[in-house]
Amino acid sequence: MDAFADIAETRLDDAAREAFARDVIAGLSGAVKTLPCKWFYDLRGSELFEEITRLDEYYPTRTELALLADIAPGLGGALPREAWVVEFGSGSSRKSDLFLNALDAPRGYVPIDVAADYLEAAAGALADRLPHLEVVPVVGDFTAEIDLPPMLENAPTVGFFPGSTIGNFEPAQAARFLERARRMLGAEAHMVVGVDLKKDLDVLLAAYDDAKGVTADFNLNLLDRINRELDGGFDRDRFRHRVRYDDAEGRVEMHLESTVDQTVRVDGHAFDFRAGETIHTENSYKYAVDDFARVARDAGWRPARHWTDADDLFSIHLLAAA
Ligand code: SAH
Ligand code: AVI
Repeated sequence: MDAFADIAETRLDDAAREAFARDVIAGLSGAVKTLPCKWFYDLRGSELFEEITRLDEYYPTRTELALLADIAPGLGGALPREAWVVEFGSGSSRKSDLFLNALDAPRGYVPIDVAADYLEAAAGALADRLPHLEVVPVVGDFTAEIDLPPMLENAPTVGFFPGSTIGNFEPAQAARFLERARRMLGAEAHMVVGVDLKKDLDVLLAAYDDAKGVTADFNLNLLDRINRELDGGFDRDRFRHRVRYDDAEGRVEMHLESTVDQTVRVDGHAFDFRAGETIHTENSYKYAVDDFARVARDAGWRPARHWTDADDLFSIHLLAAA
């Protein structure tokens, strides 16, 4: 059975709705309009991301999966026995089986995600697939401190952060995230991070602007979510998906561009858009191996080892806290 076929979307609770409203109002009030990318992942957004991962143009998922399969013995040998695995931004947990099976007798799995409904379905399906494992999902925002379940205290811990989700942070935020993860996971922890590499511009741009328009739909879905959750008045036909590569920053940017002059109301506030003006919705930083190792080192981790695929598309870094 498809665990993701019949998920019913629950509305955001009051605190989350307030946080969403605050972010949207602040983000649309500045001279340059922005929205945090974590809000992409309502149920529809999580489904669209899964669809993106199966597109021909979106090389990261299949490349990382193949690399994980290749390096499983080396990775497993470098990580402690009977560890608890904590995955940040676990989504469908499609990579988690490979990772958990690479480890020696893992004790349990803690998937963390903001997308509560999707997390519950993914965690339930993984618990069915790996019945010997204790699975303790945690709904949370990894841009802030998260309390881990008490049974992880004094147990070996391994953080798992695949997908190059770390690339959605600016490098300084990535370092702060890694520092926080180190504090959460403990002094003996390890962490395995998937990081997308710099590469040809046309490969990068196609990955974020696919021919079927799934990524466009993923980006525009944020406007539908604002309409639904915050009583917004966006007309998605008056915006279009735009992608650019900022060479100096080394990042792919996604934007939503207003196609006309317009005023849009959200939660009682009015926002003016000029034709051609954009909302910057996501950054995806691409790293050279050494550049990422430096960010990790600055955050207090010891880069222990790294692997890349034969085409140099994607990297996996093993970090040690001690
Ligand atoms: N790990 C999976 C999914 C990556 S998609 C993979 O490698 O394919 C990014 C995931 O991170 C989504 O499931 C999204 O809901 C989650 N996410 C994004 N921002 C988050 C945040 N601030 N806190 C917790 N989860 C977040
Ligand atoms: C989750 N994250 C790493 C994806 C990325 O590639 O930045 C999200 C995504 N955005 C557009 N396509 C995929």
